[in-house]
Amino acid sequence: MGWWKETIDIVKENDPAARTSLEVVLTYPGVKALAAHRISHFLWKHGFKLLARMNSQFWRFWTQIEIHPGAQIESGVFIDHGSGLVIGETAIVEKGAMLYHGVTLGGTGKDTGKRHPTVRRGALISAHSQVIGPIEIGEKAKVGAGAVVVADVPADVTVVGIPAKIVRVHGQKDEPAIHEEEEKREYYLDKLEQAREASHHSSGL
Ligand SMILES: CC(C)(COP(=O)(O)OP(=O)(O)OC[C@H]1O[C@@H](n2cnc3c(N)ncnc32)[C@H](O)[C@@H]1OP(=O)(O)O)[C@@H](O)C(=O)NCCC(=O)NCCS
Repeated sequence: MGWWKETIDIVKENDPAARTSLEVVLTYPGVKALAAHRISHFLWKHGFKLLARMNSQFWRFWTQIEIHPGAQIESGVFIDHGSGLVIGETAIVEKGAMLYHGVTLGGTGKDTGKRHPTVRRGALISAHSQVIGPIEIGEKAKVGAGAVVVADVPADVTVVGIPAKIVRVHGQKDEPAIHEEEEKREYYLDKLEQAREASHHSSGL
């Protein structure tokens, strides 16, 4: 019952509209999608890949939430509303992360292996934000609604816009700290681009 309790508790903690545990189980599509994903992921890991994908697609029909069976999702994750949410095969979502409707944890189409984002503990991924590539959203970071995130986001910052830029560090509009964090992100983005180009050349593409 540990998983169910954690899943229900996080909904109650974060959504003032949630009244009872029964209501949460019966009326929250995110809870259903996450429970179904546990089965899909089990099947996927044990080699029943087609069955896993069929289960995932069945629940996509009922919840409008598409989670690839390969995705690693810890307990205590909150998906609110969820409609249109897509989570890719190599995504990782840690405990306490919150994801809203319209979010994509997707690939760029250019990467191989780990192609999808990692969302660390307690991060908030707001409605309709698109988080693209094998990037990391740091612990307790906030991604604003409608943002497009293409580079790592450090812990405990807020990013907004397209492409998403840091607007708060530790909740403060501290311009020097924001500038410093942004410079580091640009540096790592350049390095990532160089690594991608090098692997493209070495694979003869
Ligand atoms: C980003 C968000 C999480 C707020 O985080 P925060 O750290 O408290 O940031 P603030 O509200 O202080 O806003 C920081 C700045 O970003 C701007 N901003 C906030 N959200 C934004 C967004 N989605 N897009 C563009 N700019 C945004 C603010 O106007 C502010 O600008 P300023 O620096 O010029 O003052 C929140 O605004 C947001 O996007 N929430 C959406 C949550 C959601 O998906 N709800 C769906 C419920 S159904």
